[in-house]
Amino acid sequence: MTKVLLVVGTRPEAIKMAPVARVLSQAAELELRLCSTGQHTDMLDQVLDFFNLQADYDLRLMKPGQNLFDLTSDILLGLKDVLSEYDPAYVFVHGDTLSCMASSLAAFYHGATVCHVEAGLRTYQKQAPYPEEANRQITARLADIHFAPTVQAKENLLSERIHERSIIVTGNTVIDALHQCLDRLQHTEHPEIENLKTIIAPGADIILVTGHRRENHGAGFVKICEGLKRIVQLPDVQIIFPVHPNPKVKGPVEQLLGDSKAIALIDPLSYPSFVWLMNQAKIIITDSGGVQEEAPSLGKPVLVMRDTTERPEAVDQGTVILVGTDEEKLYIETKALLEDEQRYQRMSQLHNPYGDGKAAERILEHLLKHVNG
Ligand code: UD1
Ligand code: UDP
Repeated sequence: MTKVLLVVGTRPEAIKMAPVARVLSQAAELELRLCSTGQHTDMLDQVLDFFNLQADYDLRLMKPGQNLFDLTSDILLGLKDVLSEYDPAYVFVHGDTLSCMASSLAAFYHGATVCHVEAGLRTYQKQAPYPEEANRQITARLADIHFAPTVQAKENLLSERIHERSIIVTGNTVIDALHQCLDRLQHTEHPEIENLKTIIAPGADIILVTGHRRENHGAGFVKICEGLKRIVQLPDVQIIFPVHPNPKVKGPVEQLLGDSKAIALIDPLSYPSFVWLMNQAKIIITDSGGVQEEAPSLGKPVLVMRDTTERPEAVDQGTVILVGTDEEKLYIETKALLEDEQRYQRMSQLHNPYGDGKAAERILEHLLKHVNG
């Protein structure tokens, strides 16, 4: 049997790797183990529970208010032990986090074949998103197999002289996860969703907000909060904001928005509850990568609180608008969407630029071809 190690560390990696773990675990020729770096704790555990995944190795690295230096070296050293014990032939990493970048470095040092899922996303601006753009580019240099979610991502990799035969366009596994989640939402009760229903103001237009990007910490989040305060002055609007536990987010958000009656600040939601809430929302305001990919599949307009994005496909199709952290722009664009029905209809068309829900199957198919030479 061929040994495969799949590494996750944060909430979005777990969501997007869950479909991959599922298909790989069903292949008779493969022995699969899951390693969690524990870069995140509660937010990661929520996802692993929902997808019935258990980490075979859990490095439990998260420290409150952690920094990039310690986390990078802790992941590298933690992976060293896992790799020497399990000795996998293939190591799968995902996306652009420190867990992804440091694990791919460890896997490269170990001599494993490095497989990068969600490869090729680029802004070509080292500071945005920070440090994710650099993490992606470093991972691309170390990876042997690049699973690109879109044709645009493949083109980025080709322009960096990565061999075409090592790039496979699969679609994004986030859509596989979304389909699985929507299916389970139809058949299972979730007490957290019942609780959410009690928070939602009857008849109000729900605006769902999330934010965490490091380049928005400080002044960016202050401007975002000022913009949100203006938005809830509009009639019949309620903001629901599951707040990221990073102290650099939670601190200012609670301080600046904690008093507003029309803004519900809540803890991060489990994945099914969040998907349910996205479906209830009229507009989504976010700086999240994953949410930008999910929302077009749900037909929800998204205002992205960033100046640039490595996910241009939904911007091109008109579902996503970049508003940066400009308080005025955030307010004006939200107001226009609430008041101009035609504009709203144009932006809320269903689009699937990021996948068809079969990305994980394509990844397995290619892996088996590679294993069998
Ligand atoms: C990380 C990733 C980012 C990804 C995001 C997804 C890096 C450098 N950053 O950002 O790319 O988009 O996750 O959410 O890899 N915390 C908790 N509980 C949790 C998770 C975080 O309390 O379950 C708090 C801790 O104080 C922790 C802090 O948040 O130290 C920051 O976590 P960290 O993973 O360093 O950064 P994120 O902002 O979560
Ligand atoms: N998400 C969630 N609960 C929440 C907020 C987001 O499960 O309270 C999910 C969301 O559906 C998406 C992912 O988390 O799949 C996005 O994670 P995040 O924004 O933390 O990271 P990014 O995608 O920006 O790396």
